[in-house]
Amino acid sequence: MFDIPHLDVPPLRRVAGTVRLPGSKSISNRVLLLAGLSEGITEIHDLLDSDDTQVMLEALRQIGCGVAGDGAVTQVRGIGGRLRTAAQRLVLHLGNAGTAMRPLAAALALLVTRDGGEIELRGVARMHERPIGDLVDALRQLGAQVEYLGHDGFPPLLLRGQAGGAVHTGAPIRLRGDVSSQFLTALLLALPLAGGAQPIVIEVDGELISKPYVEITLALLQRFGIVVQRDGFERFTIPAGSRYRAPQRIHVEGDASSASYFIAAGAIAGVEAPLRIEGVGLDSIQGDIRFIDAAQAMGARVTGGPGWIEVRRGAWPLQAVTLDCNHMPDAAMTLAAMALYASGRTRLTHIGSWRVKETDRIAAMAAELRKLGATVVDGADFIEVEPPASPDRWRRAALHTYDDHRMAMCLSLAAFNPLAGGHVPVRLLDPRCVGKTFPDYFETLFGVASTDTPDIPVITVDGPTASGKGTLASTVAARLGWHQLDSGALYRATALAAMRRDVAADDADALGRVAASLALRFEADTVWLDGADVTLALRHEEVGKLASHVSALPAVRQALHALQLSFRRVPGLVADGRDMGTVVFPDASLKVFLTASAAMRAERRLKQLISKGISATLPDLRAELEARDARDVNRAVSPLKPAPDALQLDNSSLTIEQSADRVLQWWNERYVFD
Ligand code: DC
Repeated sequence: MFDIPHLDVPPLRRVAGTVRLPGSKSISNRVLLLAGLSEGITEIHDLLDSDDTQVMLEALRQIGCGVAGDGAVTQVRGIGGRLRTAAQRLVLHLGNAGTAMRPLAAALALLVTRDGGEIELRGVARMHERPIGDLVDALRQLGAQVEYLGHDGFPPLLLRGQAGGAVHTGAPIRLRGDVSSQFLTALLLALPLAGGAQPIVIEVDGELISKPYVEITLALLQRFGIVVQRDGFERFTIPAGSRYRAPQRIHVEGDASSASYFIAAGAIAGVEAPLRIEGVGLDSIQGDIRFIDAAQAMGARVTGGPGWIEVRRGAWPLQAVTLDCNHMPDAAMTLAAMALYASGRTRLTHIGSWRVKETDRIAAMAAELRKLGATVVDGADFIEVEPPASPDRWRRAALHTYDDHRMAMCLSLAAFNPLAGGHVPVRLLDPRCVGKTFPDYFETLFGVASTDTPDIPVITVDGPTASGKGTLASTVAARLGWHQLDSGALYRATALAAMRRDVAADDADALGRVAASLALRFEADTVWLDGADVTLALRHEEVGKLASHVSALPAVRQALHALQLSFRRVPGLVADGRDMGTVVFPDASLKVFLTASAAMRAERRLKQLISKGISATLPDLRAELEARDARDVNRAVSPLKPAPDALQLDNSSLTIEQSADRVLQWWNERYVFD
């Protein structure tokens, strides 16, 4: 997860491979609420784990549901349609999750009306700007007491009731359909709570927007035992005697809106091989799966089946389209990004609902696509996008994401600009907002996207032993969202493997073979060698000593060369060692040579060893350190020395954060965005 101020994405050229999508947000939060209202336990498979579902889960806990799970499977024990929290006033914080705010407002309003209680529903500032008035009006028709705690028509809301109150379901409930389909969904999910002797009727005034989301609601209600009768999208009837019945086990399909970014990526950059998308397929119940038709109209070549889709480039450049996007407002945003690669002007209409989403998406999309060099016209409920007028008009833009996951994911597609003649990286501000629906979006994208090696930025940190290179490199890598190469670990692993295989320290050829056949795997902070966790073992002094010896052997250095190069993957690499800037990555964008006094380094090494439970003394360490420096500096191959273009950093009196700040400042001076 990229919890960093900005993410720089280098110019990308290709996608290939397989992505597995996280569960659908719309399905996840509907299933959670239905399970929470039902009697008994529902076992939910492949639930989306994201900000919005966390918000819903927490709300369910607060109203008395039991929630347990291990990631793959979540068990929800529902409240059986009864609220037992009347004694206290509950305050539910729902972030910016519309899929939690609207249906919870409806369900809880009905529950407190009947069972009594007081519940406050709040969200982040943006949530308090997202309309809810039409839903509140409908709830008031039912006899619910709903008050606005801020501005009329918007959250926060206060729901109140006395035990034994009545929900008036006799007359049809009238609801406007043209602001958000979530209002209708909210009522449909909630009204079975009031189920009694009579059927309950909802009548929709005006044309309903985002109809496919209502189809999802109806399909899921059916799984929970409620068969809604309907007359088109105008009149819905919940039959008399309806009661939620937990289906015991339910599977959440992958998110079709999330699929749209990868369908687009395949259409743009699936040049040599298709991109395979798993978790959602042509059998999906989600309306956004229709995005495939739009992508095909723009040129994508798509095949698929149940649970899978494969996409590759067809027409190139893509073809501009004019499309009514009422049926897939979320995925339609992706078309606006694809329009960057289309010949001509793409016009997307009937997208007024974009204005009341996580941000005003029409204004946001127009502003950011213009920054990239596109020509954009935006109106009350449409947007028109034309690519940059000529390939050299692509601009190095720092793009805002507006705390809107879809903005971030759409804009990441602009990084494929080399395929349209551009050649610029893209800076995405506040990339963490993808956590709303797709916490691993960027890891997933970078897992399948690639580019020409020289375009992948590298920062090298070289320096003597215990100068703090590793810590500095990992701090900088974390703050940039890049990969890290601890090259010393490769020499240490070679030494450890040699010790374990009883290879003599003077058998250069055999040591070279050990280096060439290392079965090494780096996983977060853990290093695996031959399937065993060797993170600690690598730090032992004897291992370091032998590493210093083997690292002087040309056969070993050569054997490890290609392995080190393979760490250079999008979006970028921070590599630390002795010869990163001089030999392995001579074209690195920024080279740092880190130093610290021998006394300081000996102290740091002592602390490091003690913290790992390894004993040592200061004088011994300092002597060993100086001997190792001398060996590293004087050896014939790749001696330790600053690259001519390296920037020197003496960190003797700097904290890690201060050193990292300095490096990042250097980086920002080199990698400039408009
Ligand atoms: O940085 P370190 O202490 O983990 O490195 C272990 C040994 O590997 C060290 O003695 C020097 C050697 N090394 C090297 O020669 N070249 C590198 N790029 C990294 C480490």
